[in-house]
Amino acid sequence: MSRDFIITKEHRRFKEFANAVRKERTIGICQGDAGVGKTQSGRRYARWDLLEPFLVEWGPRTDGDAARYAAASRSRTLFYTPSVLPKPAQLIQEIDHLQGRLGICIDEHLREIGKITSPLMRGNPRDLVELLIVDEAERLNSTALEILRDRHDRQQIAVVFIGMPGIDKRFRHYPQLYSRIGFSHRYRNLARDELLFVLTRQWKVLGRTLDPEEFTDAQAIACIERITRGNFRLLERLFPQIGRVLRINDLETITDDVIEAAASTLVIGA
Ligand SMILES: Nc1ncnc2c1ncn2[C@@H]1O[C@H](COP(=O)(O)OP(=O)(O)OP(=O)(O)O)[C@@H](O)[C@H]1O
Ligand SMILES: [Mg+2]
Repeated sequence: MSRDFIITKEHRRFKEFANAVRKERTIGICQGDAGVGKTQSGRRYARWDLLEPFLVEWGPRTDGDAARYAAASRSRTLFYTPSVLPKPAQLIQEIDHLQGRLGICIDEHLREIGKITSPLMRGNPRDLVELLIVDEAERLNSTALEILRDRHDRQQIAVVFIGMPGIDKRFRHYPQLYSRIGFSHRYRNLARDELLFVLTRQWKVLGRTLDPEEFTDAQAIACIERITRGNFRLLERLFPQIGRVLRINDLETITDDVIEAAASTLVIGA
């Protein structure tokens, strides 16, 4: 599914939230259950699938770079995933490194379109980065949070922390950080109409056509809705199993029995 990003209502809400945090240069928290799509939304917002390999490799310049510079300039966002138990020096070094390179890309684009004309760099290009999205924020200990708050204060960079529900409660223990939080956002599961949209695509992948008006399909939809509660990751794990159950039993139709059999092979958390 990840290769085929679906612009869901939740993604649009995330985008509005991130835009607001960025515009206000504040700190925001985005929390949601495991597998609802928080990371994918953050990466998409930062155009990270396009930019990350480029920033990490930092190889010789090529003709295709202009598109990357333009993307960097449009998002002005650094997407960062801390390692498990990050060391402060490592956190600073990794963010500095990526932020510097991303800033150079933005600077290149601004020169390209004539917004920067001076041959010399004015200030530090890293200051062109407006938003830092930190995924898996529960990995950050108090020192790491303090480092990021300090960066926010010094560089006026907006910060979005992505984490599991309840992360805001943890942040309450850090009053200096907590008092700077401008927005809190709840990332929800897929709504029913969007679930239907995703299911229609999945049925097609399995070579079938979904008709919600038809009894068997309506039952199948209800069954998937009950099992996955519109959770993207569960859907993603369920469908290969449905395909497998159909194949090994030589079945044609995706019934609720097939779905139950497929789901029984998965560990599905509460
Ligand atoms: N908008 C989307 N379009 C298509 N697939 C998606 C979309 N959002 C999420 N997915 C799929 O769902 C899976 C889970 O999404 P993601 O990793 O973003 O969840 P998460 O909320 O970050 O979970 P966790 O809290 O465990 O980190 C992804 O592997 C991806 O394939
Ligand atoms: Mg995630």
